[in-house]
Amino acid sequence: MNYPYVTEFRQSLVDWFNTEKRDLPWRHTTDPYKIWVSEVMLQQTRVDTVIPYYNRFMESFPTLDLLAEAPQEYLLKHWEGLGYYSRARNLQAGAREVIENYGGIVPDNRHEISKLKGVGPYTAGAILSIAYNKPEHAVDGNVMRVLSRVLDIHEDIAIPKTKKIFESAVEELIDPDHASSFNQGLMELGALICTPTSPKCLLCPVREYCTAFNEGEPEKLPVKSKKIKMKHLTYDVLVYENDKGQFLMQQRPEQGLLANLWQFPMIDTSQSSVENFTMEYKVIVQAKHELLTFKHVFSHLTWHLNSYYIKCESTELGDWLNREQIELLPMPVPMLKIWDEVKKQTAGK
Ligand code: ADE
Repeated sequence: MNYPYVTEFRQSLVDWFNTEKRDLPWRHTTDPYKIWVSEVMLQQTRVDTVIPYYNRFMESFPTLDLLAEAPQEYLLKHWEGLGYYSRARNLQAGAREVIENYGGIVPDNRHEISKLKGVGPYTAGAILSIAYNKPEHAVDGNVMRVLSRVLDIHEDIAIPKTKKIFESAVEELIDPDHASSFNQGLMELGALICTPTSPKCLLCPVREYCTAFNEGEPEKLPVKSKKIKMKHLTYDVLVYENDKGQFLMQQRPEQGLLANLWQFPMIDTSQSSVENFTMEYKVIVQAKHELLTFKHVFSHLTWHLNSYYIKCESTELGDWLNREQIELLPMPVPMLKIWDEVKKQTAGK
C-alpha cells in the first residue's frame, strides 16, 4: 500500500467516531456475546430494523448460555422478520461450540473464533476488534466502499477474492491502539457519510486524505459488476380451516430457504394444483375464497403468491393447529401477512 496519510487518517477517523457515533444499543457493551449477536443481525439488515430485534433478543437471551439452551422454535420466533434464518441457527450452534470447546468464553483470537459455526472473516474481525480491541480487519461491503474511495482501489468488489485486497489494506491502516473505534469508524462513515450515491464529502472527517475526493469522482467507486438475475416462482398458498377451528400447517425442510419455518401449504403452480393437493390430503371442501395476491422479494428470488381461504371438514392427515398454537410458530413474513388477513377477515365472527 502506497498511502501517505496513515497517521492522519487514523486519528481523524477515530476522533470523529468517538464524537459523532450514533447511540446504538450494542455500543453500550463490550460483551463479546452481545457484539456477536449484533454483528450477525447487522449482516444484510439495516441498523434501524435491527435495534428492536436486538433489544428483544437480549431480554430473552441475556447470556450465551441461555441462547445455547433455547428451543430452536423459540429462537426463530425472535428472528421472525429479520430474514436469512440460518444466521440464527448458526449463531446458536456457535454458542454451543463456545461452551463445549472454550469453557463458555468467546475466543479472543482469529484462529479459534473462525472455527465457530457462522463466524466468517468479517464477524471474527468485528468481535475481536469491538469486544477485545484487537487490531483485526472487519471488511464488509460498506468498508470496501469507503476504502475503495480513500485508497483509490478499482478492483471489482462483486468478485469474492477482491475482499482480500481490502483486508490487507486494513491490516496496514488500522490504528493498533484504537482498533474498536477505527473499525466502527469505517462502518459508521460508510453508513452516514460515504454512502453509495451522493456521498456527503463536505461533512467527511477524512476527505483531505481521500484519493477519490481529491480526484473529484467518489461516486464512480467502488467498481461493482452486475449481479445475477432474479428468479421468479409462482405459488398458490392454501389456508385450510376445518370445522374445529384448526388450520393445516407445514414445516419447511431443514435445509434451504427459510429452513424449519412454518407455513400454510404452498403449491408451485408450475408443478401441481390446488385440486391435486386437496385430493392428497383428502380434505372435503365446503367453501373457498381468495385472500391476498402479492409478491415477496428475497435476495435472488421473487415469490408471486395467490392465497386462498378454504373452509373444509376435518381430516386426519397433516398438522392441524389452532390459532394459539400458530401464534407461537416462527413463520416467514409473507405467511404472517396472509395470517394477518385471515385474522382480520374473521375478527368478531
Ligand atoms: N454494521 C455492521 N456492524 C455495525 C456496527 N457495529 N454498528 C453499526 N453498523 C454496523
